[in-house]
Amino acid sequence: DKGEYRHFMLKEIHEQPRVIKATMEGRVTASRVLEQALGTDAENLLDHVRHVQIIACGTSYHAGLVARYWIEEVAGLPCSVEVASEFRYRKHVIQPDTLFLCISQSGETADTLAALRQAKQAGFRAALAICNVPGSSLVRESDLVIMTQAGPEIGVASTKAFTTQLTSLLIFTLALARHNGLSEEKESEIVQALHLVPGQVNDVLSLDGEIEELARGFMDKNHTLFLGRGSLYPVALEGALKLKEISYIHAEAYPAGELKHGPLALVDSEMPVVTVAPNNDLVEKLKSNLEEVRARGGELFVFADREAGVASEDSLHAMQLPPVHEITAPIVYTVPLQLLSYHVAVLKGTDVDQPRNLAKSVTVE
Ligand code: F6R
Repeated sequence: DKGEYRHFMLKEIHEQPRVIKATMEGRVTASRVLEQALGTDAENLLDHVRHVQIIACGTSYHAGLVARYWIEEVAGLPCSVEVASEFRYRKHVIQPDTLFLCISQSGETADTLAALRQAKQAGFRAALAICNVPGSSLVRESDLVIMTQAGPEIGVASTKAFTTQLTSLLIFTLALARHNGLSEEKESEIVQALHLVPGQVNDVLSLDGEIEELARGFMDKNHTLFLGRGSLYPVALEGALKLKEISYIHAEAYPAGELKHGPLALVDSEMPVVTVAPNNDLVEKLKSNLEEVRARGGELFVFADREAGVASEDSLHAMQLPPVHEITAPIVYTVPLQLLSYHVAVLKGTDVDQPRNLAKSVTVE
């Protein structure tokens, strides 16, 4: 039931504050992660993990890319991320002390399951699933499970599954980091930041009308570029994927630093450039990337921390977001990009919940 909403996608975007909270429920206190919530054997298993291998497809793969930043930054352990359909068809080396982490909304994605089954033969320490469907094949075949509490996701374009995957991945990262020297202070700082996320997502949702206005700038365009740096680069990838899936506008995402290594050649007034820019140490670098785009007549759409000092002018449309902790920024910054693609698709009159050629669960190779 879509309730008051015109599409399931919009309803699911708006459910995010609630489902992110539900995903934290019973897994974190005000300042700590409850490791037992990841499974009775979690403590013992996590103690021996020296490396994390993440496998997923599509949007779930983008969640994995964000998690890599977290795992290396917060837990200090090496992490590799690969799309399942690539991993399963190449010879790979898995260290015995690896945690094999599969991320899947449905838990039935054929390539992800095949990768897990293959890896089992090669040997690893333990398999962790981050999944939204209880009793799915992925859940049944893994040693540890973190269920995202997104509830059923009907829209083919994944929204609330992604942000609850990120929430779960951050909780997992903190549990793992504890075994690798994370201070209580730092844990508490990040957990407190996580508690602020549902409210921050709510603030972003209230920008809906403004984002709908921005969406008009995309209606008649054929190409778009999404830029981000650090853990916001995967958010740019996810933003581009959403836009192509439901509005059928060609969208590409690049780490902002790669701009002059190629894609800048494409930038002109017909190619809007979308950038996500929280207020971290990369924002100054990003600003110089933005100048490069403007110098080529490109139209810029910047989603930035309101304290980052990016103001609207001529060809720059700045959307001011609430200040967020650097670690939780990828969760919050995903939401305006979801709304942007949603409104572009509605303006174009496409089938938002059932995009052409796509299925919700890809159970064939
Ligand atoms: C994008 C989307 C797909 C899925 C992908 C993996 O909006 O929904 O890219 O993310 O098919 O599906 P799961 O997570 O079920 O393994």
